[in-house]
Amino acid sequence: MTTVEERTTTDDRPGTKPVPVAITINGVEHRAQVETRLLLVHFIREVVGLTGTHIGCDTTSCGACVVLLDDVPIKSCTLFTVQADGRSIRTVEGLEQGGKLHPIQQGFWEEHGLQCGFCTPGMMMTSVALLERTPSPTDEEIRRAISGNLCRCTGYVNIVKSVQHAANTLREAQSLANLSPAEVS
Ligand code: FES
Ligand code: FES
Repeated sequence: MTTVEERTTTDDRPGTKPVPVAITINGVEHRAQVETRLLLVHFIREVVGLTGTHIGCDTTSCGACVVLLDDVPIKSCTLFTVQADGRSIRTVEGLEQGGKLHPIQQGFWEEHGLQCGFCTPGMMMTSVALLERTPSPTDEEIRRAISGNLCRCTGYVNIVKSVQHAANTLREAQSLANLSPAEVS
């Protein structure tokens, strides 16, 4: 468990009262005193220091700030930190494990699913959630899932290909995991 340095304020304007929160991010619990007005994306970026989650609009439009809250993709610029108290979050930093890229990261790499990369963390987190509930999505289902994520660079053709690439990788891994040891050898 890591403890984030406590933030306090003497400001008595609405929303500035500090309250304690305990939020698990990528498997690590973070405790802090936060103002009730603090948006979740600012907690993730500025209090915890995970800057892979981006801010593109601050108005629930672009999806650059998408993280998974208890496995559901949400726009973290739209939630107050206190609303995530006691809950579990996954961010883009939690995708790679032991130096190995997550299949969605590999997919974006292989299929050239990004240019500037600003939208990419949100695109990836939305896609991870889709693939966890729909392992074999159609292109149309992918397009619907990422309809809340805007990309100003690539167009969406390569992004859809990237998600399909990841879906294939995950299905192959699942097939291997289902084989008996005799079948593998
Ligand atoms: S920064 Fe959250 S939707 Fe754009
Ligand atoms: S890659 Fe630049 S905004 Fe999507």
